[in-house]
Amino acid sequence: MTERDWKVVNPGGSHRVVVTKELPGARWLQLLTAADCRVEVSRSTEILSEAELRAAFGDHCDAAIGQLTERWSAETLGALRAAGAAIYSQYAVGYDNVDVAAATRLGLPVGNTPGVLTETTAQLAVALTFAAARRIAEGDRVMRAGEYHGWLPGMLLGALIYRATLGVVGAGRVGAAYARMMVEGHKMDLVYYDVRLNAELEAYIADYAAFLVAHGEQPVTCRRAATLRELLGACDVVSIHATLTEETRHLIGALELAAMKEEAVIVNASRGPLVDEAALARHCRAHPRFRAGLDVYENEPAMAPGLAELDNVVLVPHLGSATTWTREGMATLAAANVAAILRGWPMWRAAPGLEDVLPFLGDEEPPHAAPSIVNADDLGLPRIAAQAPTKEDQQ
Ligand SMILES: NC(=O)c1ccc[n+]([C@@H]2O[C@H](COP(=O)([O-])OP(=O)(O)OC[C@H]3O[C@@H](n4cnc5c(N)ncnc54)[C@H](O)[C@@H]3O)[C@@H](O)[C@H]2O)c1
Repeated sequence: MTERDWKVVNPGGSHRVVVTKELPGARWLQLLTAADCRVEVSRSTEILSEAELRAAFGDHCDAAIGQLTERWSAETLGALRAAGAAIYSQYAVGYDNVDVAAATRLGLPVGNTPGVLTETTAQLAVALTFAAARRIAEGDRVMRAGEYHGWLPGMLLGALIYRATLGVVGAGRVGAAYARMMVEGHKMDLVYYDVRLNAELEAYIADYAAFLVAHGEQPVTCRRAATLRELLGACDVVSIHATLTEETRHLIGALELAAMKEEAVIVNASRGPLVDEAALARHCRAHPRFRAGLDVYENEPAMAPGLAELDNVVLVPHLGSATTWTREGMATLAAANVAAILRGWPMWRAAPGLEDVLPFLGDEEPPHAAPSIVNADDLGLPRIAAQAPTKEDQQ
């Protein structure tokens, strides 16, 4: 890449921050400028290779804001650290592309952007669920091709998702938000599979069940499955929201798909490698009444051969967090992580959800803390007091 491929903001700033893609909104640049940063933003829409990342740091770089599409290996993080960087800040909530263990060994904090993606990504999963079940993309293609010749009783019949059984694999932030939307909106019984108990979600659904009974309706139920197979066999809709780790790679393969109901819907808006995509393509080809909605792919931006030819699969290009509010919020949090580390501020509270990161998103002076550093505890970075910060904390 040449110098023309980079935009420089606040050229006189004393900390050099490399940003590997243009980000939406203006607030993130204000935060970095206020922290005396010279911000160098790549104009490229191509995914930067590790060699390009290292060339961008050169021999002096104080911080980098990078993307989930890039590979941040031990070698690249080492080069960033050697260039003098105090933080790698990822523009995403997931960070399976980052060797966090290596960053921790290097003493390098790794930031992410939890909270602002939760409802947005859960809504996309809901959209994919219904697009697949109600054959929205097929209907769209029929209209555009001029093939609609009048209403017919048997045309494009799909599956009714109401009072059916919902399976959520990974009931963390996004999975629990999706579960609530589907259970409350469509009165579904929930089965979830997670290595952790989600007591808050279980209590929420128990309260909702009591509410339904109070209104003279049948309650909904919620249970945690002991095994993934148990969930797969029981559910009409299965949505995947677990983190990608070595353990969850290909969590859903040919055998798991075979354990599902013949007319079930599967959705993946987590990370592509959780599903064996070639096995999914084979399963969808062999079972035309089975349906899938995919936001993420095993080898993005590529897709498994044959997937695009299947009418029972709905495909979107990794749009989970693609709302203006969320993408601007992610930029703000990524920049706030950088600004806080460069200024020596402590860590914010645990930052699991939106309520926790809201104070960073308004127009007022943000809290004097880093919103989310994933290896903060391993690095022994101090945390701000658990209660909401007072005016004095912020001075
Ligand atoms: N499509 C998108 O644009 C998009 C947007 C946001 C998040 N994501 C992805 O969605 C996923 C969930 O994000 P989140 O913010 O809810 O994360 P989270 O950490 O809150 O939730 C992940 C859940 O997965 C569970 N889990 C981990 N290993 C598991 C296993 N072996 N079996 C079952 N469950 C397991 C965890 O216990 C946790 O509850 C992440 O992979 C993230 O990268 C994608």
